[in-house]
Amino acid sequence: MEKNISKNGFIDVLVGLQWGDEGKGKNIDELLSGGVYSGVARFQGGANAGHTLKFGELEFIGHIVPSGCLREGVELYVGNGVVVDIVSLVKEIEELKNLGFDILPRLYISNRAKLVSYLHPYLDQAEEFSRSKDGKKIGTTSRGIGPTYSDSRARRGLLMGDIMFPDFDKKLEDLCQMHLNLLKMYQKEYGFEVPLEKINEAKKKWQEALEKVKKLQICDLSHLVQKRLREGKNILAEGAQGVMLDIDHGDYPNVTSSNTLPANVCLGLGAPHPAIRNVYGVIKAYTTKVGGGDFPARIKDETVEKMFQERGHEFGATTGRPRMCGWLDLFALKYAIGLSGANKIFINKADICPTDKIKVVTGYIEKGKVLEDFPLRLSQVTDVVTEEISGWGEANFGISDREKISPALSSYLDYVKNKLKDFEIEIVSVGTGPDRTHSFPWDK
Ligand code: GDP
Ligand code: IMO
Ligand code: MG
Repeated sequence: MEKNISKNGFIDVLVGLQWGDEGKGKNIDELLSGGVYSGVARFQGGANAGHTLKFGELEFIGHIVPSGCLREGVELYVGNGVVVDIVSLVKEIEELKNLGFDILPRLYISNRAKLVSYLHPYLDQAEEFSRSKDGKKIGTTSRGIGPTYSDSRARRGLLMGDIMFPDFDKKLEDLCQMHLNLLKMYQKEYGFEVPLEKINEAKKKWQEALEKVKKLQICDLSHLVQKRLREGKNILAEGAQGVMLDIDHGDYPNVTSSNTLPANVCLGLGAPHPAIRNVYGVIKAYTTKVGGGDFPARIKDETVEKMFQERGHEFGATTGRPRMCGWLDLFALKYAIGLSGANKIFINKADICPTDKIKVVTGYIEKGKVLEDFPLRLSQVTDVVTEEISGWGEANFGISDREKISPALSSYLDYVKNKLKDFEIEIVSVGTGPDRTHSFPWDK
């Protein structure tokens, strides 16, 4: 007999469908307004993420803390798939406290989450330094993401729950000794140097954070998640980065070190597969990318790119780096929808359209041939196929009523929907500004 799971809760997933920074934080917060979800869970990535939440005067950028933090009563889960930067975590908890949100009673961290050590960020920088010698920098966020996942896969990393065990100090010391040896190698081979005072300072800050972290609710999160589902409660899984940065399906090696796809939710939380219901995908009306690697949809006219960058405030929420700007890339988007199974999408930044005419990328070309499949390397792409359509200016800022948007924006949304007609996709809402209230529903 088929198991009746209807009384159980479900997990909806929200992921970025581009190269990150699509506005995922805002949409998580928006989805929570309906009261459908009792918790929000991060399942991958770490403090490389920067998710902006804005509500009136209040602004918060979450790196580790899930984007349900400004919604009282919503539980916040940090899953086993996450690499936890404890200094960032403690700082975020304190920042939230100053904003009037004491999240401690509703924050749960998996004892199997991966612990970022005080040397992982330096190893990240050392690896980047060595790559820069051949101009092959990935442009990481320097948050130690790659080295922490590497240690995890090599089975020598530290888990959050380890901090409660008597052998923790020894484990930490052994790992750090290995990292120091590696750093010495980077110094000898590449001339990458970290002053000892800097390391000592980082260690001190990290140890202070560790004492605070010991008081947090570190638990068997998969048990808690399963319990909540059995209680009929629903959970929203919050993706970090974007599908195009997925370690297996992105433009390797210009990717992050985790699987950003919804397929990773069950693994990164310890949740049962049948619990997954909707996949929400988030895009911007154009595209941005930070870091190294090719970006076929990049706007070729520097002045126009700068207009998008400035009007769209396209500067990283984690690193402050300027983001490269490109046209909406429908070829990459179809690839991302196929991989993620997104059945509902959010389109953000519809208020940013500084030009009369805009382009949309509909195909990739390699040496004169239009590609059918997504290429292994984006460097293979020598040109792109584009379509030009009317822009809509910036008169749509802050609009929350569908009837009030400009006709050109309305036809752009119809155009995008039509281009995606092979996928059964619903455009849930369209963002017209950074605030919680700046959006209007589309398909319904
Ligand atoms: P995330 O990493 O996907 O959560 O996105 P980020 O927070 O890194 O970057 C998105 C930026 O765009 C933030 O500064 C948001 O406040 C802002 N934002 C989100 N939606 C909109 C929108 O519809 N219009 C405008 N103008 N800004 C938006
Ligand atoms: P959110 O969650 C945009 C990019 C970095 C670099 C590559 C690898 O805010 O959308 P890493 O530090 O992960 O080893 O860097 O991935 N990157 C992001 N780009 N948004 C992010 O997160 C990103 N997290 C990582 O710029 O190119
Ligand atoms: Mg971001």
